[in-house]
Amino acid sequence: MPREIINVQAGQAGNQVGESFWRMLLAEHGLDEEGFYQGNDPLQLARVGVYFNEVEHSGSRTKYVPRSVQIDLEIRGGKIGSLFRPDTFITGNSGAGNNWAKGFYTEGAELIDPILEIVRRQTEACDALQGFQLLHSIGGGTGAGLGSLLLSKFREEFPDRMLATYSVIPSPKVSETVVEPYNALLSIHQLVENSDLTMLIDNEALYDITVRTLKSKNPAFDDLNVLVSQVMCGISTSLRFPGQLNGDLRKLGLNLVPFPRLHFLMPSYAPFYDPNAKAFIRMSVNDLTQALFDRRNLLVACDPRFGRYLTAATIFRGKISSNEAEQSVLDLQRKNSAQFVEWIPDNVSVTLCTVPPVGQTQSATCLANSTAVQELFKRNLTQFAAMYKRHAFLHWYTGEGMDTMEFAEAESNARDLIAEYQQYQEASVDDDEVLEEEYEEEAAYEEDEQQ
Ligand code: GTP
Ligand code: MG
Repeated sequence: MPREIINVQAGQAGNQVGESFWRMLLAEHGLDEEGFYQGNDPLQLARVGVYFNEVEHSGSRTKYVPRSVQIDLEIRGGKIGSLFRPDTFITGNSGAGNNWAKGFYTEGAELIDPILEIVRRQTEACDALQGFQLLHSIGGGTGAGLGSLLLSKFREEFPDRMLATYSVIPSPKVSETVVEPYNALLSIHQLVENSDLTMLIDNEALYDITVRTLKSKNPAFDDLNVLVSQVMCGISTSLRFPGQLNGDLRKLGLNLVPFPRLHFLMPSYAPFYDPNAKAFIRMSVNDLTQALFDRRNLLVACDPRFGRYLTAATIFRGKISSNEAEQSVLDLQRKNSAQFVEWIPDNVSVTLCTVPPVGQTQSATCLANSTAVQELFKRNLTQFAAMYKRHAFLHWYTGEGMDTMEFAEAESNARDLIAEYQQYQEASVDDDEVLEEEYEEEAAYEEDEQQ
């Protein structure tokens, strides 16, 4: 029985990234653009039900339809409309104009009931829903504001289901809208509370990889989104193909999230397409492993060498021996032991899947929970604070009925989050000895008292 996931994509980035993701997912599961199976490997269909509904089509043919809801406050033409169920699109007509408050409080909030109606219908058709994944950017109005509102509604209505997000982080290299730091920090404030797993997709890193590694002079969103979908397919591999480890969102979360607020994960991927060879270069298992822990392969513009890994999950795809993969990960950890917290033993998991991505012979993906992620929050906070100090642009938000208190709360929540990462970065086993001594002293003291 598949444990179903419902995909919800909101706003321009959410829908464009989603389109790229679904195209790649179709190919991975041997489905054509209409959702009919054309493949020849039973593994492709074994757990296809995690992301697709099976429907009878004109008699005997089975059509696989994405379990997905597409939301945007402005109308745009998508390219694979025929793949989705026609009654799973929700559009407004005014847009949220880069304003988080319009997405969360006004324009977006007006659509919340019809959206929840569609989502409910999707959940009722599931045997054993494991949870939701939200695709959105956090720099605009719709994906960020309405996306945040959706998360809080899901949390309320489906409190025991997993909520995962793929959240696109704004970068001035890609977009020049001045209020993005506001929208992003207000979203992060919500993600901290209402998401179980957030995969960070940082446009700054996507831009750098596209320019430096893929040698593209003028990257378009489509170029960035190819990278995103490769990584999304990599991350979801253990959910979509038979296997033991990290087989559903809850297990993935359990292994990766030691503290509930610290659920912001940095994805990395290897190999990237090689523009000189015009192919995906074949790499040794050791090189794949090295690459996963290299900042150049990270989808977040942070340097893992400045932080420590709390946990990480690696997934190797293709003909790769599990011994070799496990050994190479162990070797890497041993050589860089200072980069891994020692108080969580065995904190890097290794999963294997024999099915490689389409057009590649092998690949590796990693999801890391590293304290280095604080760099991203600091970058955002600095941009936010510079404007907020002077209350610049605030009237656009208060005009939608928003209280400035919410800005102050978002700011202080982000500061707390950064401090928490820093605290765990500095924590060491030596602290445990101190803790233990204190505990023993206290016990002895209490014993004395009792006598
Ligand atoms: P409004 O249009 O303001 O109502 O909200 P929206 O959710 O549609 O906004 P959008 O998704 O366009 O958010 C803007 C942010 O997303 C900016 O940081 C853009 O750089 C980024 N963005 C927009 N489209 C894409 C995309 O296709 N891929 C990537 N990676 N980023 C995108
Ligand atoms: Mg838009």
